[in-house]
Amino acid sequence: MSGTTPVEALTEIEAAEELARLAAEIAHHDEAYHRLDAPEISDAEYDALRRRNAAIEARFPALIRPDSPSQRVGAAPESGFAKLRHRVPMLSLDNVFDAADFQEFCDRARRFLGLTGTLALVAEPKIDGLSINLTYEDGRFVRGATRGDGQEGEDVTANLRTLRSLPLRLKGKAPALIEVRGEVFMTKADFLALNATQAAAGAKVFANPRNAAAGSLRQLDAKITASRPLSLFAYAQGESSEPVATTHWDYLGRLRDWGFTVNDRSRRLDSETEAAAFQAEMATDRASLPYDIDGVVYKVDDLGLQRRLGFVGRAPRWATAWKFPAEQATTVLQAIRIQVGRTGALTPVAELAPVNVGGVLVTRATLHNEDEIARKDVRVGDTVILQRAGDVIPQIVAVVPERRPADAQPFVFPDTCPVCHSHAVRPPGEVVRRCTGGLICEAQLVERLIHFVSRNAFDIEGLGEKTIQEFHAAGWIGSPADIFRLPAREAEIAAREGWGKQSAANLSRAIETRRTISLERFIYALGIRRIGEANARLLARHYGSYAQWREQMIRATTVGSEERSELGSILGIGPAIAEELADFFGERRNRDLLDDLVGVLREIQDAARAETADSPVAGKTVVFTGTLETMTRPEAKARAEALGAKVTDSVSKKTDLVVIGADAGSKAKRAAELGVRTVTETEWRALAGLDD
Ligand code: IVH
Repeated sequence: MSGTTPVEALTEIEAAEELARLAAEIAHHDEAYHRLDAPEISDAEYDALRRRNAAIEARFPALIRPDSPSQRVGAAPESGFAKLRHRVPMLSLDNVFDAADFQEFCDRARRFLGLTGTLALVAEPKIDGLSINLTYEDGRFVRGATRGDGQEGEDVTANLRTLRSLPLRLKGKAPALIEVRGEVFMTKADFLALNATQAAAGAKVFANPRNAAAGSLRQLDAKITASRPLSLFAYAQGESSEPVATTHWDYLGRLRDWGFTVNDRSRRLDSETEAAAFQAEMATDRASLPYDIDGVVYKVDDLGLQRRLGFVGRAPRWATAWKFPAEQATTVLQAIRIQVGRTGALTPVAELAPVNVGGVLVTRATLHNEDEIARKDVRVGDTVILQRAGDVIPQIVAVVPERRPADAQPFVFPDTCPVCHSHAVRPPGEVVRRCTGGLICEAQLVERLIHFVSRNAFDIEGLGEKTIQEFHAAGWIGSPADIFRLPAREAEIAAREGWGKQSAANLSRAIETRRTISLERFIYALGIRRIGEANARLLARHYGSYAQWREQMIRATTVGSEERSELGSILGIGPAIAEELADFFGERRNRDLLDDLVGVLREIQDAARAETADSPVAGKTVVFTGTLETMTRPEAKARAEALGAKVTDSVSKKTDLVVIGADAGSKAKRAAELGVRTVTETEWRALAGLDD
């Protein structure tokens, strides 16, 4: 499903979703190509995926994912590094977010151990880099691996050797075999400088220090890694041929003695009650630290207790990460731009004066929808508080009212689509305003065409998503009718890369066979909002023929018209859906599009009228008169018609049945004169089976 909307038209949310999809898709093809030697797509198609990924990332640098294919450019295809199995699995940490959660972590550990009294802990700033496992044999660095899936990582030994802070030989006495674990990271200053150099050289710019560190370490060419400013803090142990300490604090001391860098902000806490103060201290100092941290790791100091506590799932019972709240920054909102998604949703996007939030340059933020703008009273010119948590899209938390310019105006959400200028409507009870342009809106066109040819719609074999995109890009299909003009281009199609005579001829044949279509498929294919298969069938059965449907829908565009009430009273349709249809037909370009389409079809087959066969009123001519109590007149008419009756306005000899409501006048009299059968509303309901 990638790649249908022009990159400029993507909302931030859609962009994030698509990047996730592309990452998975490209990873899949990488694996097929490199590991299985069995590519599933052409090189050109593969390149197109990567280009689209790059284009989206260029527009939304804050959305670059750690697993993005771009973060592997020039570096490791999956098979580039050998796999290394860790002797002791590398686990992750559970998170806590406040003092109560932290207390619960300590209580759990105490209960598990059957201890009373408080726990001595070691607190270490939690750096967001990438963890690595370093193996030393007889004091010499022999192997280093990334964490990978925790069991098995990538052998990045050659690259790690280039790190200045990694001791190649341990100083002093060391066990015959020891694994040391730590974090490879980039300082904020190094990250900004690297990005500046990269940008000047026209090379890739990294989204954050973590990605820069990961990208730099995972270079196939160790010379490149050597040129990148990577740092290392050591903080944990894996396998060891002999015990090296009895407390974690002492172990950190040994690491220092061997020549490792241990974070100098690490601290031993005599009691867990000191944690909150340490947490607050680090939160205050965070901004002035030379590296990014996202919390503090607390570890039970006593290694004997650590061993007893062990692990649960993938995390130790003896350590936890107390995370900071999301990072915030303030900046000025310069404009609110409305993006149109491929389903027609209008999404407001805040254009911001560029600001650094936690090492990431943010220039845009999502505003979600119009209610959100109104609720926060966000105005262009406002100073806003921005928040970014982890890899998620930046959010505007609030405005700073004291800094509002005197002339700032409340934002008025547009009621027309910025792309195609159709009405943008917001049904009652919904938060999203949508463009009603559908097939006439360039932002939605490709998506709508894909629906148009899909299996339950026109079902054109050989015309899938990719082909629609290809032909749209070639400028050949700008509307549904254009699909039926493709056979005229058969020679041109045959000449395209990846086509040829046979497949072009097959496509033409598939299109030709679909010039005849049932009314319900036709209606469904238009992709009018809320007209799925079931409603398309209801409409087809109710109106019977295309001509009848079209005429009635155009009349139904008038609010309060009989046709509008009738449409809204079709069982299963209702007033809200009637409004969607009225909106569609109210737009001249939609009517033109229909006429154009009908012009290239052979036949739209009439629908069988609904449930007519076994009803006692099927085929009867019925007149309603007077005021009905249980339903409106249009509904009564619609119901009768649905049962196969013909409803007329005046009583004649041809009338089979007159339904008499309250205060009936001349029609009741005339029925009596002509000897036409009359029934009350209650009798009618029974006859029509409406109370069953
Ligand atoms: S100890 C079994 N200590 O956080 C516990 N991890 O969320 C192993 N991290 O994968 C981790 N600073 O990449 C530990 N001082 C520190 C850390 C730290 C950062 C990272 C590490 C780990 C992740 C777990």
